Amino acid sequence: MATERLSFAGFLLFASSLFSRVATGEPPKIQPFTFPMQVELGTQTSVYCGLSKGTRPIEFSWKKNERTLKSVDGKIHILTPGGSTVLEIQRLGSSDIGNYTCIARNSAGEDAYTSSLVVEGKVSEEGAVSI
Ligand SMILES: *[C@@H]1O[C@H](CO)[C@@H](O)[C@H](O)[C@H]1NC(C)=O
Repeated sequence: MATERLSFAGFLLFASSLFSRVATGEPPKIQPFTFPMQVELGTQTSVYCGLSKGTRPIEFSWKKNERTLKSVDGKIHILTPGGSTVLEIQRLGSSDIGNYTCIARNSAGEDAYTSSLVVEGKVSEEGAVSI
């Protein structure tokens, strides 16, 4: 009797874990990305953050040096058409140098990937004087 009750409980546990797996789906996995090399001051750049897997809907966000990035007219554009996101940075200045993190989240989990933006000309601002 007792074993029957136990196995019924076990079946419920098994069934509910199956159900939650179906309900939550597959956690997102971000494909590694890098900013273009030799980005110049005053120009613009963009970087694409896509997924190799992950059940939709996916919620994307960006961080710069651990702080959440928001779109700013004429400066930062974040485009999220669905299963991916693009970060565009205009009028590049030395203050844009830093580590940019793409975060993807769904009901099953979360993934994050960080890439550094290097802007050419930052060093030569002072270095140019000494030439
Ligand atoms: C970016 O990350 C690298 C490696 O973790 C670190 O050395 C560097 O200081 C970071 N840059 C900024 C601006 O936080």
